[in-house]
Amino acid sequence: MDSKRKFFYRYELDQTKLPDFFQGIIQVEQEGAIHSSRTYPGYPQWKLEKVKPKLWSNLEKTLLSRRSARKFQTEMLSCKTLSRLLFFSHGITGQNSRGPTPSSGDLQSLELYLAIFQTSWIDSGLYHYDRQGHYLSQIAKGANYNRWKQLIPSMVHFEGGSLLWILVGDGARITKKYGERGYRFLLLEAGHLMQNLCLLSTQENLVTLPLGGFFEEAVAKELHLPTSDVVLYVGVCGKN
Ligand SMILES: Cc1cc2nc3c(=O)[nH]c(=O)nc-3n(C[C@H](O)[C@H](O)[C@H](O)COP(=O)(O)O)c2cc1C
Repeated sequence: MDSKRKFFYRYELDQTKLPDFFQGIIQVEQEGAIHSSRTYPGYPQWKLEKVKPKLWSNLEKTLLSRRSARKFQTEMLSCKTLSRLLFFSHGITGQNSRGPTPSSGDLQSLELYLAIFQTSWIDSGLYHYDRQGHYLSQIAKGANYNRWKQLIPSMVHFEGGSLLWILVGDGARITKKYGERGYRFLLLEAGHLMQNLCLLSTQENLVTLPLGGFFEEAVAKELHLPTSDVVLYVGVCGKN
């Protein structure tokens, strides 16, 4: 195989990998998948609002008007708007922690973190969205915009922004079932979640701009992630 193709197909499935791949799946299915969601007990909690779907929701209209932007206001989203974005992108809406984002093997391996730059109704800081309880856990105080610019070189492509979405995969959970191919699944799932965030932002007259250029390890350290977690995708959100 061409060496460039080989690089991209590092996690490709073939006949030689198939027995191990199936073995992992069988083992996890026998043991039962873990559906417990991540929590940060003892950290300050910020209550979010209960939200309902809007009757006028029109997916086609939203898909047509979704656009990236390069200039954002810095003002923080209201609590209601942020609550809607979080719940309808990644909240729990079904059995076994199922939500709006499809999940490979029903493992619910994605975690959503936020960097909020300005203090408003919520303090500036780093947060984890608790899907089970629908609240944000403040895992670190303060989020300095220039510091994040050092961690995410793609931030030179735009100005401003209210917050960053940071999509993280639980590598231990997914590889237990799918081995190396789990990395591919995490990336695909992150794409689904980012698309949800993009479309919901459009519906709320906001923009989410997805970003591909970031220092994975440095971002992981800043968020104090377990070493088996993978930083998959970042996006900036704000009013255009
Ligand atoms: C995986 C991915 C990575 C991206 N990374 C960046 C980025 O680092 N910087 C940036 O300004 N835009 C980034 N974008 C946004 C694209 O530039 C944008 O989607 C594209 O220009 C098309 O514009 P549209 O979103 O308005 O359709 C990224 C988009 C995707 C899907």
